[in-house]
Amino acid sequence: MMMMNKAAALKDIRAQLEADYADLPLVSKPEDIVPGEGNGEAEILFIGEAAGRNEAIQRRPFVGLAGKLVDRQLQKINIKREDVYISNVVKCRPPENRDPLPEEIAAFAPYLDKEIEIIDPKLIITLGRFSMGKFIPDVKISMIHGRLHKVKFKGKTRFVLPFYHPAAALRQGKVMDMFEKDFLRVPAILKYIKEHAQDILVEETIIETLF
Ligand code: URA
Repeated sequence: MMMMNKAAALKDIRAQLEADYADLPLVSKPEDIVPGEGNGEAEILFIGEAAGRNEAIQRRPFVGLAGKLVDRQLQKINIKREDVYISNVVKCRPPENRDPLPEEIAAFAPYLDKEIEIIDPKLIITLGRFSMGKFIPDVKISMIHGRLHKVKFKGKTRFVLPFYHPAAALRQGKVMDMFEKDFLRVPAILKYIKEHAQDILVEETIIETLF
């Protein structure tokens, strides 16, 4: 069988989400789904929490104020938004933007896991504690944000860099400073991964802070 290219495989996930809508929490029609978007060949995969109001209207992730902040930070490090992939742990808007529930995160996890498998990014940047918790459970974001982690996930080694959520940065100046500083380290961290991945991958630790 011929291998599907990444863009086609990612489009399939969107179709699958819409086909499965009746079984998904928070979703009452296929149009409620806010799928991931971006470049299937991306080196960086950003994972946020759940769609907000603007995202639900436009059916695109991170297009509101938090998304504009991510766009500005990407510009500062000369990375184009169309070169990365952006998705969420919950691909729908929770009522009043409340925190997603564990069962909601679990229901959408197979789709996100498939996105990760297809894109196979060099670096996963988690935005906020819910996407961080998927890879690095039981830690405080204040303790580990901005530090590169090696994580065993679904049998593969993944490089995960946890960031504060941009909405938290917009609410609090101190968090904004940390968010901006963490973002500026991305080029050096990518370079580190490219230079060291081969050596790091043969080691057997489960979760480890690297850089
Ligand atoms: N916040 C998120 O976590 N995801 C979005 O897509 C938008 C805002």
